[in-house]
Amino acid sequence: MSNPRSAIVELDGVARRFPGPPEVVAVRNARVRLQAGEYVALTGPSGSGKSTLVNIVALLDRPTSGRYLLNGADTMGMPERQRALVRGRQIGVVFQSFHLMAWRTALENVAVAGMYAGTRRQLRMRMAAAMLDRVGLGQRAGSLTATMSGGERQRVAIARALATQPSLLLCDEPTGNLDSAATEVVLDLLAQLNREGVTILVITHDRQVAARAGRQLAIVDGVVDGLVDGAVDGAVDGLVDGAVAPAAGDAG
Ligand SMILES: Nc1ncnc2c1ncn2[C@@H]1O[C@H](COP(=O)(O)OP(=O)(O)OP(=O)(O)O)[C@@H](O)[C@H]1O
Ligand SMILES: [Mg+2]
Repeated sequence: MSNPRSAIVELDGVARRFPGPPEVVAVRNARVRLQAGEYVALTGPSGSGKSTLVNIVALLDRPTSGRYLLNGADTMGMPERQRALVRGRQIGVVFQSFHLMAWRTALENVAVAGMYAGTRRQLRMRMAAAMLDRVGLGQRAGSLTATMSGGERQRVAIARALATQPSLLLCDEPTGNLDSAATEVVLDLLAQLNREGVTILVITHDRQVAARAGRQLAIVDGVVDGLVDGAVDGAVDGLVDGAVAPAAGDAG
């Protein structure tokens, strides 16, 4: 277990350019610190770099400049294999577009998560079934996800992200396809996980979803400035190139 006062994620002047053409600077200057046990919401307009940032934090993509420390370890020099292992063991990701295998059952989709963490099949199946129960889909474990509704698929994706009991959970619009009742179920689940010690970063356009977080950040044109609750640490001062993000909640 991580020290509750330590930083789990530290992005220090992180940028991500896509060469194009045309070249796009999706993330321009991110300095974000998530303390272990925090629950943070990130909002921003469409195209402002949110999913790009999530991919970086999830170790699925690398910054083109800047530094990313995960639990104090510099991820920049980690070989791909190590990044995959760290991701499998520590990080759960709920993708904006789910990324489920359509012609596999909900149970198989969730159980796949543990593969990357090296968990035995039997245990993976048990954990997958428990997680599907937790998101209210126990009855649909054997259904092909191709036959499920958008909201059900979203909940399968959430169950998959949780199946390995990650210490860091990244959710990209986790309630984007849910009605208000299902949204409440997911938000209660996130709150419960956070009480259990999981560090959560949730990306959302929904004010009500953002309001459930302990801290709200905004990203504007790839710039996000999110250190700890106003306690700006001198060690990373001077990294922001002018545009300090306004308060969250004004995203479209
Ligand atoms: N692989 C890529 N190659 C080129 N450009 C990309 C790539 N991925 C993202 N971009 C660009 O980077 C910018 C940020 O994209 P990103 O998906 O991070 O936005 P977002 O904030 O998640 O938006 P949304 O709210 O619509 O999901 C966009 O202009 C997008 O077109
Ligand atoms: Mg996105």
